[in-house]
Amino acid sequence: MSDDTPSSASVGSFSDAPRGTREVAGARIGEILATMRSNGALPSIESGIPSDQPFVSSAWVQSLPRRFGHLDGFSNPYIPDNARLLLSQWAAGQVSGNILILGLPGTGKTELAVSLVARRIESIRKGGMFLDATEFVAQMRPGGIPRLTEAVGVTELLLDDLGGGGRSQMSEFEIEALFRLINGRWSQERHIVVTSNLGVEELKVRIGERSYDRLRHNATAITLVGDSLRGGSHV
Ligand SMILES: Nc1ncnc2c1ncn2[C@@H]1O[C@H](COP(=O)(O)OP(=O)(O)OP(=O)(O)O)[C@@H](O)[C@H]1O
Ligand SMILES: [Mg+2]
Repeated sequence: MSDDTPSSASVGSFSDAPRGTREVAGARIGEILATMRSNGALPSIESGIPSDQPFVSSAWVQSLPRRFGHLDGFSNPYIPDNARLLLSQWAAGQVSGNILILGLPGTGKTELAVSLVARRIESIRKGGMFLDATEFVAQMRPGGIPRLTEAVGVTELLLDDLGGGGRSQMSEFEIEALFRLINGRWSQERHIVVTSNLGVEELKVRIGERSYDRLRHNATAITLVGDSLRGGSHV
């Protein structure tokens, strides 16, 4: 993979990967989340779980919005075939690097990113966090409760909807807040999974060159192309 530009995807297919293992891992995370949600109980352990039991990251479970994590994001029909092998290897902890999941609203970016990070957490048995990019920036404002240290320090970070928030431009403050996060992780050699409705060129303009340059370092960009998967009838 080039150090300079995000590759559009690597070659290969999920059929090369051990299917059973993947499905079992995904199902286990789903079951665990469902059970904990129905009990109203969340685990407070990040380590010390016997290796024959599934690993659960409490930081991940607590930060994951209720809507996500029930679907198998890997079943998304818009994943390019030549990206599937890389995604399965990344989820298994066999390769590292930033993953940028791009595409129009409703193409399943967040669900895919959640499945990807959830599987990796279980594979490598380390903690993770779901972070809404707009929320993060809002929290960095005076009076907010900054999650910067946590977000820089956690092993796996999903930064959702980067460059979103409805406005065409970010303020200098917002750009700087994101830079502190992206540069903090880059400095510590920790990768990020990012979702965004923007294309790479728009993303560069929106978040600024300095953040973009660190994001694209050792990154793979995957664009999901298709109609929105959100159900519902037109009225
Ligand atoms: N793999 C999938 N299989 C079936 N349905 C899916 C899948 N992925 C997503 N969907 C459907 O599409 C909806 C939108 O998915 P998701 O929130 O991941 O999209 P998104 O690309 O992140 O959208 P946005 O850019 O608006 O945040 C889901 O709530 C679900 O109904
Ligand atoms: Mg989304």
